[in-house]
Amino acid sequence: MDVTVELGDRSYPISFRPLDSLGETIAKHYKVGKCVLVTNDVVGPLYGEKAMSALRKAGWNPSYAEIPDGEDRKSSDTYVALVNSLLSLQVDRKTPVIALGGGVTTDIVGFAAATTLRGIPFVNVPTTLLAQVDASVGGKTGVNTSHGKNLLGAFWQPFLVHIPIETLGTLSDAEFRCGLGEVVKHAVLEEVEDPRDKTKLVASTEFFEWLEKNGKRLANRDSECLVHAIRRCCEIKAMVVSADERESGKRALLNLGHTVGHAVESVMGYGKLRHGEAVAIGTLAEAQLACLKGFCDQALINRIAQLLRVVGLPTGIEGLEVDALVEASLMDKKREDTQISVTMIHGIGDVRLLKVTPDELIPVYRMLSGNTSQKFSVVPPAAPNSTPQVNSNAYGIKTMQDHQPE
Ligand SMILES: NC(=O)c1ccc[n+]([C@@H]2O[C@H](COP(=O)([O-])OP(=O)(O)OC[C@H]3O[C@@H](n4cnc5c(N)ncnc54)[C@H](O)[C@@H]3O)[C@@H](O)[C@H]2O)c1
Ligand SMILES: [Zn+2]
Repeated sequence: MDVTVELGDRSYPISFRPLDSLGETIAKHYKVGKCVLVTNDVVGPLYGEKAMSALRKAGWNPSYAEIPDGEDRKSSDTYVALVNSLLSLQVDRKTPVIALGGGVTTDIVGFAAATTLRGIPFVNVPTTLLAQVDASVGGKTGVNTSHGKNLLGAFWQPFLVHIPIETLGTLSDAEFRCGLGEVVKHAVLEEVEDPRDKTKLVASTEFFEWLEKNGKRLANRDSECLVHAIRRCCEIKAMVVSADERESGKRALLNLGHTVGHAVESVMGYGKLRHGEAVAIGTLAEAQLACLKGFCDQALINRIAQLLRVVGLPTGIEGLEVDALVEASLMDKKREDTQISVTMIHGIGDVRLLKVTPDELIPVYRMLSGNTSQKFSVVPPAAPNSTPQVNSNAYGIKTMQDHQPE
């Protein structure tokens, strides 16, 4: 059964099907013809040909383009080069572009689709856990700038999200764990329909408790657990996006862990720490801020920290400059004048936004960087990526009309 992101006439399905049914699934929602598959130089060699033949088999006439891999290549240079490649491939406003890869790929391709010819249709085919539970759903697209993360972007919804769960089989353990950071985030945010009044939502601890029980199995990629967790995260995210597509209220709650997480990523330098690791560190730091402000108790912090540890994520990082973190927070997208909205945890399923000044983050920045006697428990970040890194020419993007990925 598909999950639906309800957005009136722009509603779209999230389907959980294998990669080889990609062509026929898109064909259910779009008239078959020319299309462009965009992936990167790590995912391309693994799944490019399979995706291309799945498209051809359903009658599509696909072109192929590859962008360079890596968060440090999620830049305006890669974006502009991709737009030029799409134009060289003569896309028109009806040519669907298909993003095959992790969150970096879906974010860049989505942004290129949002802006090329003022908007062309696109499909997300996420292949990392993080992209399957989060990045591929909701229509936030964009790239990083030297001023901060995702500061150049657009809201542009895909018309389909096709999740081939089996592609997680080739994902490195370190990348897999990163997705678990966003899974924990969704569990902390879970709300369900109030059984007494279906128009209302109430806090739910169900998914969080399920994770406490099954976290280890999930971290070991038990397939039954994976299917449940990915679907539940998509349902939770779809519900929030349907309620507030443009982040004028509720959707901002999904930034839990990201205010601090983005500051940490930015200070470390993109690509040094994985996004999911930064979010795990950020979630605990923001929970600690909620605790300092008296919104929740230490027992809850301990529960979240324990769950992050069970799934193998870091909960702190030493040696970062507090001043640099404060400076980075000033570049936060959610900043209004001198204040930033931070998601405060009051309880599992009960989170609320609070406006704080970057200075108010100093105590938790001190804690997370080990710059105080009151420390977070520090678990070392995960081992370096075991995914092969393929070097490519400076922002060189390969495109071919009907390329067989090598
Ligand atoms: N738009 C949103 O709503 C949203 C939400 C969350 C995160 N994000 C963004 O997502 C990005 C992080 O995404 P990510 O963690 O997927 O990173 P990523 O896209 O860099 O993927 C991680 C690594 O795994 C490789 N890979 C992908 N699929 C693979 C597979 N099946 N087998 C082997 N290797 C594979 C990638 O090539 C890359 O080297 C960040 O830039 C973040 O800002 C966006
Ligand atoms: Zn994230």
